[in-house]
Amino acid sequence: MTDAPDTDGDPGTDVGLYVHWPYCSRICPYCDFNVVRDRGRVEEQAGLVEAILADMRAQRALTGPRRLASVFFGGGTPSLMAPEAVAWIIAQARDLFPPSGPIEISLEANPTDAEAARFAALAQAGVNRLSMGVQALDDASLRFLGRDHSAAEARRAVALAGRAFSRLSIDLIYARPGQTPDDWATELGAALDMGFEHVSPYQLTLEPTTAFGRALARGTLIPPDEDQAAALYETTQTVLEAAGFDAYEVSNHGRGVAARSAHNLHVWRGGDYLGLGPGAHGRLTLDGARTATVAHRRIADYVAGVGAGRPWTGTERLDAAGAAEERLLLGLRTVEGAAVGLLADLGLSVDAAPTVDLIADGFLTLGGGRLIATPRGRPVLDGVLKALLT
Ligand SMILES: C[S@@+](CC[C@H](N)C(=O)[O-])C[C@H]1O[C@@H](n2cnc3c(N)ncnc32)[C@H](O)[C@@H]1O
Ligand code: SF4
Repeated sequence: MTDAPDTDGDPGTDVGLYVHWPYCSRICPYCDFNVVRDRGRVEEQAGLVEAILADMRAQRALTGPRRLASVFFGGGTPSLMAPEAVAWIIAQARDLFPPSGPIEISLEANPTDAEAARFAALAQAGVNRLSMGVQALDDASLRFLGRDHSAAEARRAVALAGRAFSRLSIDLIYARPGQTPDDWATELGAALDMGFEHVSPYQLTLEPTTAFGRALARGTLIPPDEDQAAALYETTQTVLEAAGFDAYEVSNHGRGVAARSAHNLHVWRGGDYLGLGPGAHGRLTLDGARTATVAHRRIADYVAGVGAGRPWTGTERLDAAGAAEERLLLGLRTVEGAAVGLLADLGLSVDAAPTVDLIADGFLTLGGGRLIATPRGRPVLDGVLKALLT
């Protein structure tokens, strides 16, 4: 199998597959994803794998024949999955949705020694791209982030991953309290020296339901202010650009086009994808309408729901305006932008306010029939979208 991603798939007919594995060995104080502590309940986990497989078969009955565009195992911590379960899911996906060529199969991994020992088996199972949640490269920051690995352990895991996978991505969390642009530039440089082809630097967000969110409310955690955060964002762009990594999405930088995540591009281009596993979101074109699906969040509810033929808490058929708004929101996050034709469905035009003003002010630009956020518009994209859509 080659590792070349099929980035030219057709987002109109191909399907991506997102598999959510909710278990984590420890819950990080900043994380508000749908996660639970992994207490080693083997039977429960085997039941979840069965449910994911059954859910995939049921969704295949709804979509009819499609080609597989990509697979993404996210979490939670899918590097804790049994490699044979990963192999079964990939094999069934290929069976139900035969791909037309090589496809990208990504998996999110935590860089602990225990998980690194399984990388070769995960590659054997069919995973060809690893997204490593390193988060920070010094022990004090890792302790602050509540991580269960040291910097040295992460480096060992990256070295082992490099032997098993030719495509490696790193997640880092910046805008930590007290972090200066110089610290961050040094840390990013050290990450680049480790040989990743793809970097996802995420600005620390403090969600109210998390331990960090509560610390913020109590005043015991003081994040960088707006200007400091903007300076850290600028540092990210400058360091990564200078190293040849282009920001093909707000928080995703690839060393050349081949390093871009095919799965994420498929999603951002408005492609269909199945959401499998507890709390997973999906987007399917069913009877001609783009339909949003959301699976039950609790593991037991999801497993019971799949068994009863009702894996979703709900589905929503998006009307033309809803579908256009979603594509615009996603497209403007990327270098590819969004098709200008979408504006008409939203009662907008490039020749009238507010679009024309956002272009004149340098936040948006036009190119090849697409509306694209400029380097000036990217960091303030939420405000740009608000101006555009309200
Ligand atoms: C859902 S996590 C799964 C990855 C894996 N479990 C790990 O922790 O390495 C995906 C990524 O989201 C990012 N993330 C999660 N919560 C965040 C937050 N509050 N602020 C910024 N980034 C966050 C982290 O970089 C993390 O690697
Ligand atoms: S950041 Fe990763 S390991 Fe930590 S709780 Fe969230 S999903 Fe789990």
